[in-house]
Amino acid sequence: MTKQEEIQNLKKEKDAVILAHYYVRPEIQEIADYTGDSYFLSKKATTLPHKTIVLCGVSFMGESTKLLNPSKTVLMPNIEADCPMAHMVDKLALEKVREQYKDLAVVCYINSTAQIKSWSDVSVTSANAISIIRNLPNKNILFIPDKNLAHFIAMKVPEKNIIFQKGFCPIHENMRAEEIQALKLQHPEAKVLVHPECNSAVLELADYVGSTSEILSYVEKSPTLEFIIGTELGVYYTLQQARPDARFYFPNPKPICSGMKQITLENVIEVLKTGRNEISMQDNSINKAASRTLERMLELAK
Ligand code: 13P
Ligand code: SF4
Repeated sequence: MTKQEEIQNLKKEKDAVILAHYYVRPEIQEIADYTGDSYFLSKKATTLPHKTIVLCGVSFMGESTKLLNPSKTVLMPNIEADCPMAHMVDKLALEKVREQYKDLAVVCYINSTAQIKSWSDVSVTSANAISIIRNLPNKNILFIPDKNLAHFIAMKVPEKNIIFQKGFCPIHENMRAEEIQALKLQHPEAKVLVHPECNSAVLELADYVGSTSEILSYVEKSPTLEFIIGTELGVYYTLQQARPDARFYFPNPKPICSGMKQITLENVIEVLKTGRNEISMQDNSINKAASRTLERMLELAK
């Protein structure tokens, strides 16, 4: 029996469904029932009938899935898979900003721990941040943790005062504009599509800035045959399936998220067999506040 067949059998036996982020290894995306960006995965998880959800992504995704679906068993194939940015918030600085602005809304990127979500008023993903923030009644917004996404939102929603901290995704922050520029010279017909977690020098070179699923739908609709992609390499699997006729170029060094890549087929088999790495979120005030922050996102994004 192949590993893939074993997973199919275990899924049936355990009444489990597999969700995977676009950044995980191709072989994991291949066995997943649903693949998507952070917004799609969080929304999808709330609609599934299965008893068990296997979340192939980093730890904030497992936490968010459990917070939104407390009655489900949520399994993380690799408990070590984490997102460094999800921890990059200075609580003291946050409190100072709250004191300074009476009408402040603290908006956290979904790439944050449950604790950080509990300090926030609403959560957002890169796919819904602009529309949610634009529609908030508050003028003053503290956006945490990603400074690059905050900078992009500030450009798109100039009517708001966007205050931010210093968090960043190392993979997108370290992407070099010179590399994108060099790819543009080599492939002058290519469109440049980048994720808003990239630094501002990279954003300036982009034809389009969007979340992973927004990049994918741009590619699906575009007549162009060549694309320079400024996000994690895992999206190549889906991009290639969507447009087998097109060519995709990624900057060097290749943008690879080590957390996402930690998840293997063996991990998926093991958690399905043993129930190991089950996410448990205590019914305490921190987690209740974090759930409200996520639920507000789902309501406001409708
Ligand atoms: P999206 O899935 O919202 O595009 O975000 C990318 C990301 O870095 C997830 O960790
Ligand atoms: Fe976190 Fe960046 Fe990896 Fe996304 S790509 S999970 S933001 S480290």
